[in-house]
Amino acid sequence: MASSMSGSTAARTVLITGVSRGLGRALAVELSKRGHTVIGCSRTQTKLDSLQSELTSPDRHLLLAVDVRSNSSVEELARVVMEKKGVPDIIVNNAGTINKNNKIWDVPLEEFDTVIDTNVKGIANVLRHFIPLMLPNKQGIIVNMSSGWGRSGAALVAPYCASKWAIEGLSRSVAEELPDGMAVIALSPGVINTEMLESCFGASASPYQTPEAWALKAATMILNLTAADNGASLTV
Ligand SMILES: NC(=O)c1ccc[n+]([C@@H]2O[C@H](COP(=O)([O-])OP(=O)(O)OC[C@H]3O[C@@H](n4cnc5c(N)ncnc54)[C@H](OP(=O)(O)O)[C@@H]3O)[C@@H](O)[C@H]2O)c1
Repeated sequence: MASSMSGSTAARTVLITGVSRGLGRALAVELSKRGHTVIGCSRTQTKLDSLQSELTSPDRHLLLAVDVRSNSSVEELARVVMEKKGVPDIIVNNAGTINKNNKIWDVPLEEFDTVIDTNVKGIANVLRHFIPLMLPNKQGIIVNMSSGWGRSGAALVAPYCASKWAIEGLSRSVAEELPDGMAVIALSPGVINTEMLESCFGASASPYQTPEAWALKAATMILNLTAADNGASLTV
């Protein structure tokens, strides 16, 4: 196992939100192959069940149905994680959603709210309940999934862009609140062919890299992050 554990010598416990499909799922599978322990959440129980059996050493991992928009559900997640696995070494705030392509004045009110509630408030919920668990040991790496659209603008996805710009600002600000030894990083994953990309690119999504190819690079990069990366905006 150690020989395939590139980018890291020690086995880590990694909490990933949004593991039912796309980037989160591929990253969970890749980390399990490298001998790390995955704590994963998303809303769809059936997809969590299928992921559990796909992970290497299925019993080592903890997958729970949690909606990150719910502060009380994330609080309960933190309680269960502490009881069963202890403080995660790494958190990847990956769960996210995008509005259907539309000019801002045609985006339904509820859809705008869902993007902000998931992409911004969902991450804040995780930070609220997990950072205090990491503080006593002054250890922990937090990766907040940003986007190229968190650093540029694009027509038809203004709510999504706004949410990812918020994550860049949130991450840099929280970085100034953490003690030495911890780090929070905003990570743009690049462009990957997932359901989210299909939503905004349509058929043009298919030539892009697969989540599995992405996860090979992303896992190594994430496992190599250190406290020296605190406050950085990085790209896979
Ligand atoms: N794909 C790209 O090219 C790209 C580019 C830039 C940034 N990103 C970012 O990368 C991350 C992953 O994107 P993706 O392309 O893999 O998207 P995706 O295929 O749509 O997957 C999104 C994941 O988030 C979960 N999720 C959504 N809402 C949730 C909620 N309220 N609570 C818990 N889990 C929730 C979904 O699971 P359930 O529906 O089962 O809950 C799913 O597992 C996102 O933050 C996205 O903004 C992606």
